[in-house]
Amino acid sequence: MQKTKAIILAGGSGSRLYPLTSIMSKQLQPVYDKPMIYYPLATLMLAGIQDILIITTPHDAPHFHQLLKDGSQWGISIQYVEQAAPKGIAEAFLYGKEFIGNDQVCLILGDNLFYGKLDFLRQAIANNQGATIFGYPVQDPERYGVVEFNADGSVISIEEKPKTPKSQYAIPGLYVFNNEVISIAEQLQPSQRGELEITDVQNVYLQRKQLQVEKMGRGIAWLDTGTPESLLEAGEFIHAIEKRQNLKIACLEEIALRMNFIDMKRYERLLETLPHSSYREYCNRVLQEYLPS
Ligand code: G1P
Repeated sequence: MQKTKAIILAGGSGSRLYPLTSIMSKQLQPVYDKPMIYYPLATLMLAGIQDILIITTPHDAPHFHQLLKDGSQWGISIQYVEQAAPKGIAEAFLYGKEFIGNDQVCLILGDNLFYGKLDFLRQAIANNQGATIFGYPVQDPERYGVVEFNADGSVISIEEKPKTPKSQYAIPGLYVFNNEVISIAEQLQPSQRGELEITDVQNVYLQRKQLQVEKMGRGIAWLDTGTPESLLEAGEFIHAIEKRQNLKIACLEEIALRMNFIDMKRYERLLETLPHSSYREYCNRVLQEYLPS
């Protein structure tokens, strides 16, 4: 299997969340009990990815660094790059060119939350040839990239925020691309709204017959957090599940341990650095369950 790196795109002004975002970046806002970026980071770690680049703004880079450091505490590597003025999602591959090197890359948008069994992502990473993206049925597809399928399941079209969507299938902000994505992004022209569109990248793969679109099963929850209401709803969703199951979603310490990115000794040392909180208590409980009885 080829090596996979990942980029979390956490730039942008988050203007739709103003005034929340007038001081602090959108991807640092709380989703119930954790900063938003914990969730996409957890998704990548659970997919087995340990080499991660975060693209952020010059203003927010120090905050992300303070929060996540270089990732070594969780047995991963986190690098940062600052994007002066955001000009579209596909720009991630220009900023990430050096980081990606000769590998394939998984891109996740820092405000996209996934909950459920992540086998669909592990399979996409293992089997990807050109590009693998996903389709997820929603009631408001006009807010997203939209994919249209033939009766036989093959892809007919991909459109960015169409006024009249040709299907209910939105394209979530989670994508796997082979290394050609860099040269594709380099040749891209800005769209009418002046952005390098991720859907234009997808369309190049579609024309080359190298695009795989997997329908995301109903067992997966995909939440976005772009508006005050959807941010609150995402928090309520996480709260409801954590409370009912008495577990934490996106606890990065726990994931690092369970994925064997760190061993139990390192985990114990890591817990000692955490402030006394319900979060630390939870991490301790995980440890008790891990210890041989
Ligand atoms: C972006 C992409 C769109 C995708 C969406 C997922 O939209 O352009 O194709 O469906 O993310 O969240 P935006 O962040 O501009 O709303």
